[in-house]
Parts: sequence; C-alpha cells; structure tokens
Amino acid sequence: MSTNPFLSGQEELYGTSRRLARRTGALHGAKIQGRPVPEVISELPDPERARATVVDVGCGRGSTTAHLAQRWNPVLLAGIDLSHALLVDARRRLPQQARARFLRADFHALPLAEASVDVVVAAFCLYHAPQPQRVIAEFARCLRPGGQAVLVTKSADSYRELDELVTAAGLDPHATRRPSLYETFHSGNVEHITTHHLAVRKTVNHQHVFHFRDAAHAARYLTTTPKYDLAADEQAITTALHPLVGQSGVTATSRVTYVLAERR
Ligand SMILES: C[S@@+](CC[C@H](N)C(=O)[O-])C[C@H]1O[C@@H](n2cnc3c(N)ncnc32)[C@H](O)[C@@H]1O
Repeated sequence: MSTNPFLSGQEELYGTSRRLARRTGALHGAKIQGRPVPEVISELPDPERARATVVDVGCGRGSTTAHLAQRWNPVLLAGIDLSHALLVDARRRLPQQARARFLRADFHALPLAEASVDVVVAAFCLYHAPQPQRVIAEFARCLRPGGQAVLVTKSADSYRELDELVTAAGLDPHATRRPSLYETFHSGNVEHITTHHLAVRKTVNHQHVFHFRDAAHAARYLTTTPKYDLAADEQAITTALHPLVGQSGVTATSRVTYVLAERR
C-alpha cells in the first residue's frame, strides 16, 4: 500500500491546533453547498441511545463533540484523540460540560470496556488508519449489543480540482497523480469495510461545494494540505496561482458519506 501522507505528516498537521484551525477556517470560508456535518451526524442514531453513553473518536478540536453535547445531552460523553494539542482546544470548547471527558488514545486500542458504549461517532478520521477495519473491530468491541456507530468520510477524488490547479500552476507537477488522502477509507469503500464487524443500517451522501474566492484564499488552504510537495511559501503560491484563478476564484467539490452501523 502506498504511504498515506496524512500519517507521515501527522505530527505536523495535528501536532498544533493552529494549522488545523487554519485549514478548517479556509475550507469553511469557501463552503457554498452542503449541510453542516455535525448537524447531519446528530440526526442519524437512535435518540434514546444518543442520550446515554457517547464517544466521539478522533474528536480533534471538539467542534462536533460540542454540537453533540448540546443536541443530545448524553449522560456520558467522551472525546478521544491522539493529539494532545487538539485535546487542549477541545477541553476549552466544552468548559461547562461537566459530563464531558477527553482522553488521549489511539483509536486502534480504545481505553473503554467491552460493551460499554451506546453511540460511537468517527468523523473524518478513519482514513488515517492504514487498516480501518481494525478500528471498526475496536468499535464493535466497545459498543453494547444494538449500539450504533456513525462513520463519516469523503470521496477519494475530493478536491481534485485543486490537484489540477496545483499541477497547472507548476507548484507540484505530480499533484494529480498522488494517491488520495482518503485512500484507505472513503465513500467508495466505507460500507464494505464497515460490514466486516458491524451491520450497515443507512448510508447518506451529500455533495459539498467550495468556492475559494481568489488566489490568496486557495493558497491558504493548499499550504495546510499534506498531499502536495510545495516548496514555495504562501505568498509565492498566491503569486503562482493568480494567473489561473484571477478574480473569479476556483471551485472544488467533495462528496461526504455518512454510514450508520450497528453492533449485531
Ligand atoms: C480531520 S480531524 C477530524 C476532527 C473531527 N472529528 C472533525 O470532524 O472535525 C482527524 C483527527 O483524527 C485524529 N487521529 C488521527 N489518527 C488517530 C489515531 N490513530 N487515534 C486517534 N485519533 C487519531 C487526529 O489527531 C485528528 O484530530
């Protein structure tokens, strides 16, 4: 299997919250179509289970965790992530939530008892696992019988318009040939991988569209993307993109896939 650049760049991308905040900020600022992901997640599981014991795996800076805390008000809520820096941000985001706990752990070995969880949420994180089915097996171990998992990922060809732009601008001539960041767990294989250990109950696909308004906006996002080999700094990238992007900007698309699965 080819190297997943998210994994090799893990320290750099998730080692501080600043880079992820910048990446998320640039992407959210570009979004022109697609429902907010935490909102869709909150509608999927059985409401009774969602009020009990909930774990947000790969919680990052805790924005989804905070939304679920508010919408579900579960008896117990835990956010789990490998990045200490992101967990610091997540804890800050939920100061009033006495019932929320944040734990640093690898999702391959969750510090949770067997059959102790009602709902597991894992949004945009399982493509970091070289073998996501091992993580799904771990979810199956922790879920109570009938417990549910909400798994969220993107299509493998997400943002390919940006790959084309980066190649055309001569910033990384191999950009269009590099493997997808979502190669191990994407819209096209999520159901197949999940069914090894859980029963898939529902799959929802939403098209998300992003419009980066100018070269500087596109450059801000591109500098945080571990996929490319960009030697230039943000200003030089902006200058290189300008003749191609001009004042009209650039549009990119991504399909977001939600799978609701259940422990048999
Ligand atoms: C793109 S962020 C997603 C954050 C959040 N779920 C969201 O939807 O906004 C991916 C997260 O997965 C975490 N992660 C990556 N590998 C992990 C692992 N082996 N165990 C636990 N968390 C991991 C990263 O630290 C990062 O916070």
